[in-house]
Amino acid sequence: MEAEIKTPTQVNLNDLEAAALQVLRSRATPQPQVVRMADDAALAILRAIGIPRKGRPLTEVIQEMVEKVYYHRAQADHPRFFAFVPGPCSPLSAIGDLLTATYNPHAGNWLESSGPSCIEQQLIRWLADNLGLPQSCGGLFVSGGSMANLTALAVARDQKLQAHERSKGVAYVSEQTHSSVAKGLKIIGFLPDQIRRIKCDSKFQLDMDDLKAAVAEDKMAGRLPFAVIASAGTTNTGSIDPLVNIRSLCDQENLWMHVDGAYGASIALSSRYRYMLRGIETADSVSWDGHKWLFQTYGCGMVMVRDKTHLTASFHTRPEYLRDTETDEGQINFWDIGVELTRPARGLKLWLTLQVVGADAMAAGIEHGFQLARWAQDELKQHPGWEVISSAQLAIVNFRYVSPGWSDSQIDTVNKKIAQRSLQDGYATVLTTVLNGQTVLRVCAIHPDATEDDMRQTICKLTEFAVSESALVNE
Ligand SMILES: Cc1ncc(COP(=O)(O)O)c(C=O)c1O
Repeated sequence: MEAEIKTPTQVNLNDLEAAALQVLRSRATPQPQVVRMADDAALAILRAIGIPRKGRPLTEVIQEMVEKVYYHRAQADHPRFFAFVPGPCSPLSAIGDLLTATYNPHAGNWLESSGPSCIEQQLIRWLADNLGLPQSCGGLFVSGGSMANLTALAVARDQKLQAHERSKGVAYVSEQTHSSVAKGLKIIGFLPDQIRRIKCDSKFQLDMDDLKAAVAEDKMAGRLPFAVIASAGTTNTGSIDPLVNIRSLCDQENLWMHVDGAYGASIALSSRYRYMLRGIETADSVSWDGHKWLFQTYGCGMVMVRDKTHLTASFHTRPEYLRDTETDEGQINFWDIGVELTRPARGLKLWLTLQVVGADAMAAGIEHGFQLARWAQDELKQHPGWEVISSAQLAIVNFRYVSPGWSDSQIDTVNKKIAQRSLQDGYATVLTTVLNGQTVLRVCAIHPDATEDDMRQTICKLTEFAVSESALVNE
């Protein structure tokens, strides 16, 4: 029997303890169907719930949320969820969320959050050390890669362009750069023709010759090149742009070098694969997501800027009612170096995870992803008909099913159908992307608990779907 709730802030402790256990237990084992979309009947039930005048028992509400609300979702943390960038979050991260939400420090300023802010500061420093960024670097935890990119791009704009020059500024991305970069540039005031899309080479890496030519052409036309956005782990293929060469060009042309490492920067924690990021230590700014390959719940991104005073120059404001919060040396008001004023201490869940698991197990978890993609690729080779379009790199492999005599559009259709079949079947989720104008299937495998059997069985299932879809085409 639950205690009656008199005000929104007074809830009985025993009831809360029971509720926390109820929630955690409900998530203890993954459900067999990886993706469950609400059908019309289920949506009608949800829409009919409404808001009661008088409260209901907590356990009853939680049960309803577990069974009717959260039930209808993709388990992006399922070992065989291979679509988009999966979110294989550690339960420790959820406990970190619970702590952060329970204590709810206002982590925008030091006065209200000296303990959590100190930990976030230390963690940013540790992560920056892993990337090889200098002591001058600073940064903060933000909601994710999109916000990290936007924050860094605002700093790039402010450092490289005078206010009256903004309309002539040009930023360079590649064909494989994540869409959040163009979105960020648009939000901070750049028009589509101020964003140059540089072509990629056969390895889906930004093509240096094309970049140099585009910069030269823009300068000739009186435009003002100001930033190159490199990717460390593109979303489609995991490719890493030639960071060292991009740095040289940025030095020559006085351009800002931003590296979007939302997906791939995590490999900096692996002594085995860190070398692949060579050059990232020279970036002017870096984005990195904890809720991708650092196994965190959503809402955990980081942005780091080589010279932390540049963040302050872009984001510091001083309204009269906040003047009691001035900081001393070594202290930080995160609201001075980012977009948000009120913000949760997003870094503490990652800190908690690292404390409990240790950096070595974290690195091993990341390295496992490389192996998962290789197992998938190896299994593809066992079945005729599969063509690997982008080989396993950074836990991603792209492939498609082809048969002699099929047209391009037939190949695209069959591969889209294979993805749909995998979604309906529920054993594993594999969706498509487009590479070189062709529809391909894409596996992004970063779950530390996914096994060789998961990978091989997934490919066997896809092969079954491919064979039956081919029969329809060939009829
Ligand atoms: C390379 C890259 N950059 C940026 C983003 C955007 O990150 P977020 O979804 O955390 O905003 C993603 C998301 O998948 C990504 O893969």
